[in-house]
Amino acid sequence: MEANGSSKKIDDVGETERDVATRNQFAAEKHAVIYKKHRPKADPKAIERILNFAKEKKSTRFTLAVDIACGSGQGTEDLAQHFEKVIGIDISSAQINEANRTNKATNVEYKVGDAENIPVKDNSVDLVTCSQAVHWFDFDTFLREVDRILTPNGVLAVYSRGDYVLLHDDQEVEKELTTIYKECTWKTLKNYWNDPVHATRQKGYVDLNIPYPDFNRTRIQSKMDMTLTELTGFISSFTAYQRFRKENPDEDIFTPLYARFLRALKVNTEPDKTVVTAGCPLYLLMGRKPDEEEIKRFHFVWEENE
Ligand SMILES: C[S@@+](CC[C@H](N)C(=O)[O-])C[C@H]1O[C@@H](n2cnc3c(N)ncnc32)[C@H](O)[C@@H]1O
Repeated sequence: MEANGSSKKIDDVGETERDVATRNQFAAEKHAVIYKKHRPKADPKAIERILNFAKEKKSTRFTLAVDIACGSGQGTEDLAQHFEKVIGIDISSAQINEANRTNKATNVEYKVGDAENIPVKDNSVDLVTCSQAVHWFDFDTFLREVDRILTPNGVLAVYSRGDYVLLHDDQEVEKELTTIYKECTWKTLKNYWNDPVHATRQKGYVDLNIPYPDFNRTRIQSKMDMTLTELTGFISSFTAYQRFRKENPDEDIFTPLYARFLRALKVNTEPDKTVVTAGCPLYLLMGRKPDEEEIKRFHFVWEENE
């Protein structure tokens, strides 16, 4: 399944056109700093669900977790206290530099690497996580790589937030705030999104499956309070906004946006003192690699049905 463009190899080390295109989108050092500052951390409810699922069939202490496409570590260090070691891997060296610069956990290591050629030993990983990123990969190649590195009963957890709505007690205000937000992110930035990639994410990964018998698809409701300055900081972390800025370096879209939000809220406060609540669905797909017993059982059932 091609979530994102061509996987045609363009050199001898197996790098594809997509790898180069993606790395370019996340390559800028400045973007990585914005990312670290403004991207939300993983939702604790998602981390809890993932750990509970992983524990169902592994009673011993977890040895190794790998967070693929970890960015600057938005969900990586949350795993540190549950595993002997955690490795965060991302194709962008700018993101990995930023992750290393801000890393506080001694058992977390960050390194540059490709989701379609994961630099980790076979059969060695208890949990693979991937947040906000599988839509950038060749998903089938990624799944094969995950299957190679997972131990039996190891878990793959893939998750992503859907688009924000801005919540408010007053339904009319809620509608207006959300319209203003969507006009900015989908109308103003319309021509700057990578459409096929974001269509996969926007549809809540309905087209993606983890082909293990023990597979679980969940939707969690996520909610965050943030100031208007934090909200525009989040928008500025979008690849679409970064592309827009490159083409329109002098255009300030945030000052008029603040004015519209403040009018809708009927307040006259500063953007960095004005708090809004963003809500969104969080789509979580989890699959467990079968162990020997389960594989034998499946073969048996299959042969019986022949
Ligand atoms: C939207 S960010 C998500 C970062 C972080 N996981 C989070 O939850 O915020 C997508 C990340 O995927 C990385 N990425 C895209 N394609 C990749 C690939 N083939 N292999 C590894 N990382 C990749 C990008 O460099 C970027 O850091």
